Amino acid sequence: MSTLIVENRAGQQISMQARASLTLMDIMRDNGVEEILALCGGTCSCATCHIIIADEFADRVGPASEDESDLLDCSEHRGPTSRLACQVIFSDELDGIRVRIAPED
Ligand code: FES
Repeated sequence: MSTLIVENRAGQQISMQARASLTLMDIMRDNGVEEILALCGGTCSCATCHIIIADEFADRVGPASEDESDLLDCSEHRGPTSRLACQVIFSDELDGIRVRIAPED
């Protein structure tokens, strides 16, 4: 089992086990991270699962799709490594990845 490390809005780091093929959103919700609202259920239409990928993992995660990028543009907190957690599929290659939950818009 691999690990995902999430920094919540209070700055606490939460380490959780992560299974390949699940989205980061699913992993966080399964582990009780309530700040990830995921109101659209993962259909890339709400942006309430906005996360910031730690710089050192950004290349491995890759860029957002055009649709995802358009949605992220609606956030005033978008940064260069912003992604929607429902659009990032965990893989063993991402073991140890650190992400931060974006401030609420
Ligand atoms: S859950 Fe709605 S965009 Fe990710």
